[in-house]
Amino acid sequence: MLELLPPPPTDPLWDLTYEFGSDERAERLNLVLGVYRDHTGRTPVMAAVREAEIRLAERSESKEYRGLSGNAAFNRALLTLVLGDGGPSGRAAAVQTVAGSGALRLLADLICRTRPGATVWISDPAYVNHRPILEAAGLRVRTYGWRDAEGGFDAAGVLRDLARARRDDVVLLQGCCHNPTGVDPEPEDWEALAALAARDGWVPFVDLAYHGLGDGLEADLRATRLLAERVPEMLVAVSCSKNFGLYSDRTGCAIVLGDSERAVRHAETALQNAARTLYSMPPEHGAAVVTAVLEDAGLRAAWRAELDLMRGRIEANRSALAAQLAQRGWEAQAASLARQRGMFSMLPLTAEEMLRLRRQYAIYGTTAGRINIAGIGADRIGCLARGVAGVLAGR
Ligand SMILES: Cc1ncc(COP(=O)(O)O)c(C=O)c1O
Repeated sequence: MLELLPPPPTDPLWDLTYEFGSDERAERLNLVLGVYRDHTGRTPVMAAVREAEIRLAERSESKEYRGLSGNAAFNRALLTLVLGDGGPSGRAAAVQTVAGSGALRLLADLICRTRPGATVWISDPAYVNHRPILEAAGLRVRTYGWRDAEGGFDAAGVLRDLARARRDDVVLLQGCCHNPTGVDPEPEDWEALAALAARDGWVPFVDLAYHGLGDGLEADLRATRLLAERVPEMLVAVSCSKNFGLYSDRTGCAIVLGDSERAVRHAETALQNAARTLYSMPPEHGAAVVTAVLEDAGLRAAWRAELDLMRGRIEANRSALAAQLAQRGWEAQAASLARQRGMFSMLPLTAEEMLRLRRQYAIYGTTAGRINIAGIGADRIGCLARGVAGVLAGR
């Protein structure tokens, strides 16, 4: 049987990470994967997470099966975190998932169950896994533009492209810190997008993976909450991988908003059914940790403070890189970099130049130009700026 399998494609990001692993140059810099690293180059367990884990271990509760929606307290806590205290209760339900990717997949399944073969619009460029996840669920994918020629948010282009979305379509939007570009809509652009969705009847599908790492937790959730107020139906995929540092604990949830309690109940059951056939139930540990952090005022405050610190470091890295590029005479490139938000930045380099950056300077980003600006120590920003400027100078 297995001999019949044609050579499958491999994951380009993990391929680059493996290539990095066998690079023996001392100055090598891996900026491929979206993982936060502190000044020592480590991806730390957040202090509030560590404390919650200790408390949970001491309580040593049972590992009995949870319900089909996973940890109910976690789902309630994330609904409140994402949609706010006065959020649309009664109109929304959350189902715990295997991190953000699991939420994207379950929600894609939900779309397919209600509208088989429906069209989902994603940005161009998009998070590398958006199209594969949607297509694996049986959905059609179309794209809308994202950036203008200067590398900023292309408000007019996005609205023009999405004016072609039909009532039965779904539009996937990243709620903040757009991956891979770091380019986000301004508040007035979100207003315009919400108005378009309300007018044309397409369903917003918000992917939230970096809230807290852009402009601050509340600011990063503003667009999602605005959409929730303006449209009758919405889907949200929430990841706790980055903002709780729970990458390998696979923690997240799928949220559905409907215009009646009955529709929301049915959607919740459909999500449970989809999970049942994929992996039955999500893992408990990360959800228990997040719940313990969010339900305890002290731990919650400590988590928020550490998240703000992480955000500050990311911002400092980005401004230092922009300043050093400007000093070297690349002002326009520096200005476009400085406007970006979140863990990722797009370097103003072509695929060929990204390859040169890797070969000549041992700096690894994706071929499209994306680097993880959160993955570098402040002491290495100079090396990165030197490499980027060196490649630009070779034009
Ligand atoms: C935009 C976006 N959505 C979703 C995810 C999925 O994250 P995870 O499955 O690790 O929670 C990522 C991860 O990098 C992402 O960048």
